[in-house]
Amino acid sequence: MSTAPLALHRHGPASGLPLVLLHGFPLDSRMWDDVVAQLPDVPVLTLDAPGFGASPAPDDVAAAVSREPGPSLETYADAVAASLREQGVDRAVVAGLSMGGYVALALAERHRGLLAAVGLLDTRADADSDDARAGRLRMAEEAGRTGADAVAGMVDVVLGETTRAERPEVVDRVREWAAQGSPAGIAWAQRAMAARPARVAALEDLEVPGLVLRGAEDLTSTQEAAEVMARALGGEAELVVVPRAGHMSAVEEPAAVAQALRRLHASVA
Ligand code: MLT
Repeated sequence: MSTAPLALHRHGPASGLPLVLLHGFPLDSRMWDDVVAQLPDVPVLTLDAPGFGASPAPDDVAAAVSREPGPSLETYADAVAASLREQGVDRAVVAGLSMGGYVALALAERHRGLLAAVGLLDTRADADSDDARAGRLRMAEEAGRTGADAVAGMVDVVLGETTRAERPEVVDRVREWAAQGSPAGIAWAQRAMAARPARVAALEDLEVPGLVLRGAEDLTSTQEAAEVMARALGGEAELVVVPRAGHMSAVEEPAAVAQALRRLHASVA
């Protein structure tokens, strides 16, 4: 492979143990901009999911890395590992928010040597219920017909009530980003998330420092889900609840999220 399968963006110093940030659905790596701005002294790498931001279409990413049939987070995780290897990175602190967290869990299962520490933000380690899976497949089909309009309604769900009431500029920004996902990326990601298995076992013998974080107003990733992951990581994990933030904690309260990520990175750098 001569070019990285995923678009990768470098921030901060050129050397040192990187902090790799994986974004949530249906956004792209720009959702980390305000967090990255708080970490000018940390080497940060952000990547775009297949079909989001500057990454190629999902089928091209899959063709580059995959032995898995159909959309899968395993393919996405393999593409992250391949993109990092191509940049000479074989060890990193990896943190993902929501869908990015599912990919961090897949990395823990498939590429655990890569992980110096892991951050799981506004995410969970269980599989979908049948209803949730059916909803994703409906949205994937709708994206084929209406493009990013299929995800327009999500904005109200992923932002916390404080953000929606007090920070219209954040609401507008998230709405604008969500409108820019490609139909193929949206459909592929939803099918990949629908197919994901439970992965709590991948954390149980990971034996690296961990951060589990959620916005206090996150309606989709519950406190119970966070506690399950923190327990599985054992004594190595810090559990942080960010006030005044919903599911997109990194966009809603970037300073608090950056502080937690800085502690995680400093614990191994
Ligand atoms: C995300 O923010 O990435 C999504 O809420 C993930 C999901 O749909 O489960």
